[in-house]
Amino acid sequence: MYRIGVIPGDGTGPEVTAEALKVLAAASEASGFSYETEHYDLGGDRYLASGEILPDSVIEEFRGLDAILLGAIGHPDVKPGILEKGILLRLRFELDQYINLRPVKLYPGVETPLKDKGPEDIDFLVVRENTEGLYAGAGGILKKGTPDEVAVQESINTRKGVERCLRYAFEATRERGKKNTLTLCGKTNVLTYAFDLWERAFNELGESEYPDIKRDYAHVDATCMWMVKNPDWFDVIVTDNMFGDIITDLGAMIQGGMGIAAGGNINPEGVSMFEPIGGSAPKYTGQGVINPMAAISACQMMLSHLGEKDASVRVEKAIIEVLSKRLKSMSAGAMGCSTSEAGDMVAKLVT
Ligand code: IPM
Ligand code: MN
Repeated sequence: MYRIGVIPGDGTGPEVTAEALKVLAAASEASGFSYETEHYDLGGDRYLASGEILPDSVIEEFRGLDAILLGAIGHPDVKPGILEKGILLRLRFELDQYINLRPVKLYPGVETPLKDKGPEDIDFLVVRENTEGLYAGAGGILKKGTPDEVAVQESINTRKGVERCLRYAFEATRERGKKNTLTLCGKTNVLTYAFDLWERAFNELGESEYPDIKRDYAHVDATCMWMVKNPDWFDVIVTDNMFGDIITDLGAMIQGGMGIAAGGNINPEGVSMFEPIGGSAPKYTGQGVINPMAAISACQMMLSHLGEKDASVRVEKAIIEVLSKRLKSMSAGAMGCSTSEAGDMVAKLVT
C-alpha cells in the first residue's frame, strides 16, 4: 500500500493534478497495486488567507510518505520568491531530493520547433543537481538601497553533493543502455573553481567505477547550441542546479512544450516528488484548457520510481497513443478537447 502525498497547488495545478490522479487510479486497477492519497493545501491561497507557507509538521508528515505528486506553485498576488523558496525549494532541501531528473523525449506526433528533427533525434535525460549551487542561498546584501549596495550570491559545490549527483547520472546512463555516454555540462573556462571540482570528480569517478561509460564534456552555452542543432548527440547530461534549470526549459521546448515536460525531485534513499515542470499558468485557471500530459507524465515517472514497471509502461503507452492520435496540439486551448477529456482518454487506455 503506497502512501502518496498530493499537493495540487496554485493556478491550473489542481486541474492537471486531478487528471494525473485519474490515471493513477486506472493504473492501480490495471496493474494491481494499491495506494492511498493524502491531499495538502499548500500554495498561494493558503498563504494569502493564513500567512502559512509550509508548516514544519507537514514536512515531518512527508517524511513518512512513499512519494509526492505536485501540481504547480506560483500565485500572481504573491511576491515572486516567497512560494518558490518557501515551498518548492524548501521541500527539495528538507527532503534532500538531490537529483532533479528531467527526461527530454519527443513523442511521435508531437510538434517540435526544431526543423527536420523527430523522435529519433530528441531523446535524452538531464540529471540536474538539486540542492546546491546558486540555489543554496549563500550570500547576502550589504548597504541595501544605498548607492554603495553590494549583492553577493555564491555557488556552493560540495564534493559529497557533486559526487552523489554524478554517481546517480553514471548509473542512469548505464541503466538506459543507449549510447552509454554521459556529458558533463559546465563552464570550466570561466567558473574555474566550481567546475574544476565537478570535472575532477567526474573523471575520477568515471575512471574508477564506470569505465564502460563514455565521458563527454560541453560548456553550458555550447550545450544550448547542440540541443538545438544536434540534440541526437546527447544521451545523459549531468549538470549543476542553475545550468540544469536553464537547459531543461530549453529541453521542454524542443520536446513539445510545457504541456508535456515532467520531472522528478529524487532522493534515492528517501521521499521523492514528481511534478510537471511548467508553472501554475494563472490566466488559464478553471478554464479546463491546459494540457494535463505533463502532470500525467510526472505520475508515470512516480510509478517507475516506485518500481511499478507494468503500470509505468502502460501509462507511457497510453500517453503516446493519445499524443500521436488524439490531441490536435500541445498548447493550452488548442488540444481539441478539454483538460479532463484528455485525462479520460489516457485513463481509458490504461485500463
Ligand atoms: C523549476 C523551477 C524552479 C527552479 C523555480 C520555480 C524555483 O523553475 O523547477 O525548474 O528554479 O528550480
Ligand atoms: Mn525551471
